Amino acid sequence: MAQLLISGGAGFIGSHTCLVLLEAGHHLMVIDNYHNSSPEALRRVANLAGPDAANRLNIVEGDIRNSDDLDRAFSNNKQDIEAVVHFAGLKAVGESVQQPLLYWDVNVVGSCCLLQAMQRHRCRTIVFSSSATLYGYPTQVPIPESAAVQPINPYGHSKAAVEQMLMDLSASEPGWRIARLRYFNPVGAHCSGKIGEDPRGIPNNLFPFVTQVAIGRRQELQVFGNDWPTPDGSGVRDYIHVMDLAEGHQAALDVLLQEDPQLLTLNLGSGTGHSVLDVVKAFEAVSGRSVPYTVQNRRPGDAACTVADPSQAAARLNWSTHRSLLEMCQDAWTWQQNNPKGYSTLD
Ligand code: NAD
Ligand code: WQD
Repeated sequence: MAQLLISGGAGFIGSHTCLVLLEAGHHLMVIDNYHNSSPEALRRVANLAGPDAANRLNIVEGDIRNSDDLDRAFSNNKQDIEAVVHFAGLKAVGESVQQPLLYWDVNVVGSCCLLQAMQRHRCRTIVFSSSATLYGYPTQVPIPESAAVQPINPYGHSKAAVEQMLMDLSASEPGWRIARLRYFNPVGAHCSGKIGEDPRGIPNNLFPFVTQVAIGRRQELQVFGNDWPTPDGSGVRDYIHVMDLAEGHQAALDVLLQEDPQLLTLNLGSGTGHSVLDVVKAFEAVSGRSVPYTVQNRRPGDAACTVADPSQAAARLNWSTHRSLLEMCQDAWTWQQNNPKGYSTLD
């Protein structure tokens, strides 16, 4: 079992991945500054992972832009860190348009600091959270990894920059083992309803907005456009259950640690598209609640349809998604019902 460093491990995807990795027996050191998360998430992860898990989960509250914080995270372990799973970063597209320098600082400078720390501590294995946002307005759907990288906002530019940084590093020095995982639309929660997505303020994304409407925290959903060139006119996305995504990270780590050094670039998605109205219907079915909505203008920067070609991940990682849209909605609903205010309400 490996000693792993998880940056941003308290966040939405990080917490679910920590659970999967603890259940697989790994030892984890998490570095997180809780900018967009709560320490409660990791307490619940340790509880879910079983009796001895707390001993295998250590946490440094710190910032990936701070080399002292990083050195603490790399050093405070019995074994050397064998691999890093790098989730830490900012992810709100609109905020990135307002504050591009913040996104370049946290996402790009932060990743550079983390890679420098890896060099100092002789660790050369990293799984990086990239995004389908790199593809901008896709010219072909399903989207293969060979599609053009043409992001259309500062958040996407920051992800493209880190992907390039990783490619330059792997070309400069043999021995790097790198996976650039391009997630499509991660949603849902662990089936226990103990951990899930806990957005601050008004959610930007469809799933948390829909769950908050169903629970009565928001009045109605605004559907951004019903005149897209899609079967029902609403936008189509490739939603991926966060537990499938977490298992994809485990599969990527296994491949990187077992095979020769390499640079992997893989879409993590289901290969199936669902429209906004499909999501509303599925959510109403699992919750028994109605999700009122009004149709608004298209949201600037949206594409009609983004769906992954997931065949490379299936071939290279022997991994594919197996949880359905109904399970994504059911688990998001259980999480929302058990935690109407997210982690701020203790159970
Ligand atoms: P999240 O905000 O829930 O998690 C990110 C974590 O990083 C948080 O715990 C936050 O506190 C921490 N963090 C932020 N800045 C930090 C810093 N400077 N130092 C240390 N910790 C810091 O987001 P998430 O949805 O779990 O996303 C994880 C990663 O996946 C991000 O890099 C994101 O860009 C990427 N991604 C997310 C999505 C998505 O839709 N959720 C899609 C594609 C890619
Ligand atoms: C999904 C669909 C909307 C909200 C974003 C980021 C992307 C990635 C994942 C990190 C679209 C529609 C939404 C609402 C709606 N994140 N919608 N009403 O835009 O595909 O991707 O999250 O890397 O970078 O851009 O996801 O959930 O915001 O939207 O009608 O209130 O739902 O128009 O068709 P998106 P989303």
